[in-house]
Amino acid sequence: MDEEKMSKLFGSKKMSLWVIFGRTFGYIKSEIFFFILAIIILVINVSLNMILPLVMKEFTNTVDFAKSGATFQTILYLGLGYAAITIVNQGFTYLQSMILQRSGQKIIYRLRNDVFNHVEQMSVNQLNLMPVGSLVTRVAWYTSTMSDLFTNTLISILRNILTIVGVSVMMVVISPKLFLIMMIFLVIVFVVSFFFSRYVKNVFRQERAANSDFTTFLNESLSGEKIIQLFRQEKRKEMEFDEKNETIRSLRMKAIRAFAVYRPFVSFLYYLSIAATFFFAFRFELGAGDVVAFYLLLSNFFSPIEALADSLNNLTRAHTSCERLYNLLDVKPDVLDKPDAIDVKEFKGEIEFRNVYFAYEKENWILQDVSFHILPGQTAAFVGATGAGKTTILSLIVRNYEPQKGQILIDGINVKDIKITSLRRGIGQMLQDVFLFSGTIRSNITLHDDDSYSDNDVMQVCEYVNADKFINKLDGGLNATIIERGENLSTGQRQLLSFARTVLAKPQILILDEATANIDTETESLIQDSLNKMKNIGTMLIVAHRLSTIQHADKIIVLQQGKVMEMGTHQELLKQKGMYHKLYMLQFDPKHKF
Ligand SMILES: Nc1ncnc2c1ncn2[C@@H]1O[C@H](COP(=O)(O)OP(=O)(O)O)[C@@H](O)[C@H]1O
Ligand SMILES: [Mg+2]
Repeated sequence: MDEEKMSKLFGSKKMSLWVIFGRTFGYIKSEIFFFILAIIILVINVSLNMILPLVMKEFTNTVDFAKSGATFQTILYLGLGYAAITIVNQGFTYLQSMILQRSGQKIIYRLRNDVFNHVEQMSVNQLNLMPVGSLVTRVAWYTSTMSDLFTNTLISILRNILTIVGVSVMMVVISPKLFLIMMIFLVIVFVVSFFFSRYVKNVFRQERAANSDFTTFLNESLSGEKIIQLFRQEKRKEMEFDEKNETIRSLRMKAIRAFAVYRPFVSFLYYLSIAATFFFAFRFELGAGDVVAFYLLLSNFFSPIEALADSLNNLTRAHTSCERLYNLLDVKPDVLDKPDAIDVKEFKGEIEFRNVYFAYEKENWILQDVSFHILPGQTAAFVGATGAGKTTILSLIVRNYEPQKGQILIDGINVKDIKITSLRRGIGQMLQDVFLFSGTIRSNITLHDDDSYSDNDVMQVCEYVNADKFINKLDGGLNATIIERGENLSTGQRQLLSFARTVLAKPQILILDEATANIDTETESLIQDSLNKMKNIGTMLIVAHRLSTIQHADKIIVLQQGKVMEMGTHQELLKQKGMYHKLYMLQFDPKHKF
């Protein structure tokens, strides 16, 4: 997916550095003490670094013993002083790095949490629209770039600026004239670095987009490899792959080429400035100690400027990362709890639709004036052709979407006023596609809520839904491993697992959407039996193509193009000789055998 489409989904609000700092400060606040501590250590660190050239200056001055009259003791003290400063400095560097990493990791931990929780709050609709690969990038990669911002980039920028200022002051003290000449080099390096960083930032941006696109592509291709092979699309996919691969390669090369020119150029300037130092030191008649000190200061000058250019790149990289993360955090979940939403602990199971209209896209009504009333404990079945709106009705009940007009009531309460968690707790959904996580049979039934259930509880539920027989045959029973989203299980077996999963969660309302389709004859009778038992759990809503499955429903609702056409029991509807009767004859009349 290209960057433009992504921006539409995630939002593409540009944010200034200040806005980003402001928002990020919210995460830093609790760690502010440690950041200040790190900065204090940093200042000491840089100052000590500035003293080292001075020690060397003294040392050089004493080396000419005849003039200085220095004793061995003086030299010993200077040497020890130099060593002491170096050791203390390394200690401080260690401290500073530990403090920053600790705080940085804490901040990122919270940020990652926030992003993940936020994504989890989004409606099914929103998540369907967002490519998984891009979400993965946003949650994992951008948060780690931001962590780098806190632990490395910002401090390195501060350190480098402090160093540059410190070195400048020292140079001015030694020789203002020589410093002015050095300023020429400083300015050139700065300007070059600036344009270089701007260019590279642009390449990096493109590279990131290409990488994200590539991840999405890989994800989809590998998940869909079976289909690709089935339809012999390998060649086309290979070409697509090559193209994307090439884009990433050429962008990387662009960046590498830019660095390959920039780095040697700066080095060249460095050596030129050393030559200039010695040349002008001679002209200005500086002492040997001053020249050595100046030379050492100079070596402290270029690396910070280079590093600063590097940090600037990181900063822009972090800038876009922050922008994208905050844009994602700004996407408002479609379906949110009202502030005074009602927490319903247990539903009686009465469900009513009152003149419900619903459209996925504006004005394209998928449901029109749908009304029905199901009493607690009843079983209702929805019948209709593919696309009639059966699944849509069910997803409105669990509030995956909200109707534009009309009301949906559970136990007389509008679902809009009920906490989403209450709805998800009270309503058990069994869908046609059963998603199995990597793990064991047990963990897929308990959904990792392992502590709440004993093996006995789980096994009892499995017996109840007739899943026990096949589980017992598996190597390891409940602890048998699920591979590749359950490809070692048949559709029917996966469905029985989803029944067990649902029943274990003790819902009061059960939803079954074509859960009985595509099932092998062997498991069909088990599922049928299991269904009949589950009717006793509470209110049940079933969508099934096989009319035999729903014959005993208390209410059958026949839909056509989003409208309720007929409603009644099996016998009542047959007597009407309408749509249901026609469907029934198609399935059961021997004259219509396929
Ligand atoms: N996420 C969606 N976005 C847009 N249209 C959708 C979406 N899901 C379903 N539809 C459309 O809504 C109509 C009803 O679909 P659905 O409720 O799934 O039918 P059924 O379950 O009866 O087969 C169909 O025309 C389908 O194309
Ligand atoms: Mg459907």
